[in-house]
Amino acid sequence: MSDIALKSPPRGEKRKLRRSERIQDAVKRRKTRGATSYEIIPKDISKRTPIVKITEIATPPPSIPPTPSTQSALIVARKGEYEVVNDFPLTPLQHEDEIMIRGHTVGLNPIDWKSVAFNFCLPDFPWVTGREMAGVVEKVGKNVSHVRPGDRVWTSTYYRDVRAGTFQEYVIVPQHTVLPIPGNISFEEASVLGVAGLTAAMTLWKWMEIPMPGNTSAAGLPSPPQTPEERAENSTVPFGTLSAASAAALSKQTEAKNSKGWVLIWGGSTVTGQFATQLVKLSGLRAITITSGRTAALSKSLGAEHVIVRDGLDSSDILAEIARVTQGHITHAIDIVGEATAALVLRVLSSDLQRKVMGDQKIPFAPLAFMKANQEVPDTVSVENVEMKRFILDKESNKYALELNRLLESGQLQLPELEVVEGGFHAIPKALELLKKGDMGGRKLIVKV
Ligand SMILES: NC(=O)c1ccc[n+]([C@@H]2O[C@H](COP(=O)([O-])OP(=O)(O)OC[C@H]3O[C@@H](n4cnc5c(N)ncnc54)[C@H](OP(=O)(O)O)[C@@H]3O)[C@@H](O)[C@H]2O)c1
Repeated sequence: MSDIALKSPPRGEKRKLRRSERIQDAVKRRKTRGATSYEIIPKDISKRTPIVKITEIATPPPSIPPTPSTQSALIVARKGEYEVVNDFPLTPLQHEDEIMIRGHTVGLNPIDWKSVAFNFCLPDFPWVTGREMAGVVEKVGKNVSHVRPGDRVWTSTYYRDVRAGTFQEYVIVPQHTVLPIPGNISFEEASVLGVAGLTAAMTLWKWMEIPMPGNTSAAGLPSPPQTPEERAENSTVPFGTLSAASAAALSKQTEAKNSKGWVLIWGGSTVTGQFATQLVKLSGLRAITITSGRTAALSKSLGAEHVIVRDGLDSSDILAEIARVTQGHITHAIDIVGEATAALVLRVLSSDLQRKVMGDQKIPFAPLAFMKANQEVPDTVSVENVEMKRFILDKESNKYALELNRLLESGQLQLPELEVVEGGFHAIPKALELLKKGDMGGRKLIVKV
């Protein structure tokens, strides 16, 4: 460590320079001589010494290891076959809007095993799959300002760009798909947001147009479910012709009626369903879910107002129970299980009771886990084609991820129970086999990479 005493400024300038200016000047001159960091020792006024001391701290410059040109990755080497390699190419950023993230954890999803087993969403071989992850920013393009190297982030990707597959060490994605991880959330927790969290959020907020929790005004809510009597009672003058007070009163009335609306979630304990249930409640609507006995309490704890335990029931029992509880007031429906349950949801939505209450209003239905291509869709239903690639293709979809972050930060959203798998990329194929069995009981599989 070396102390240096500054020389006095040139004659004539001495009285013009203030102490702060002299410090700045000294720091500037030391910097040009190659010093890296400085500690300024305040002037001891009692001794009235004219010397400002600067102590150089002899810390070496932080060594940033260069980003390698190859990396390890779990690749789909050929049809149906995974392979872990250590020399997968790592390209530099190609656009100033891109971000390179070094992965810490990846979330596993049914799409990961399905795409390899059924050979879809694989434009070429070798390819890298994986749709969600959390990690640390490695590099940013010149246009990126919301995050910096070293920041903790999460992202959601899709299959078109091999650089964006999350089962590789470094992932390159467009900046609007990269979100800072809220301070109260770990890497493991953040890696569940990119698929299940965002799918639930965008299904409800984008495709079904349910207002985001931060924006639940009566105006944004779906049309109220009404019996014919209720419809007659509500056939009033348009808002524009009312006084402010009457409009407010009417808005309150409408809001109260809206609160009767049910959102049917078949598969309430799927990870996606857990997010959806909470978001429905946060938007002021009521969720009715279908789960097994072992996860019913979980679904209830997340805010489902009514949970139907499917164990021991046949489908007509479940449909009867849905009708008994909702009394035809289902305003939205999501199926997160598969073709058979999607068909059952359509039966519910076209029941006489639903028709009587909802009139000719089409009920949005999102079949998230496949619906038969030739499935007949009743005229009372509008099937929403949820395409999560819209998160990557439409920059404005970033707002849904920001809202998820806000809800997490404010503690309003509970994350699923995690099962964290060690073993890096080698562990992923086995873990996906576990997921394929479909009995995770509401837990989410995360792999540390
Ligand atoms: N379109 C998209 O973009 C998109 C996005 C996300 C997910 N998905 C799809 O949605 C499905 C779920 O994904 P996920 O990751 O959320 O699932 P997950 O958590 O792996 O779902 C497993 C859970 O499903 C529940 N389940 C199984 N059979 C059921 C049934 N007959 N009725 C009700 N619940 C049943 C089980 O809980 P219980 O037995 O305890 O009820 C199990 O724990 C997958 O098919 C996935 O591909 C699609």
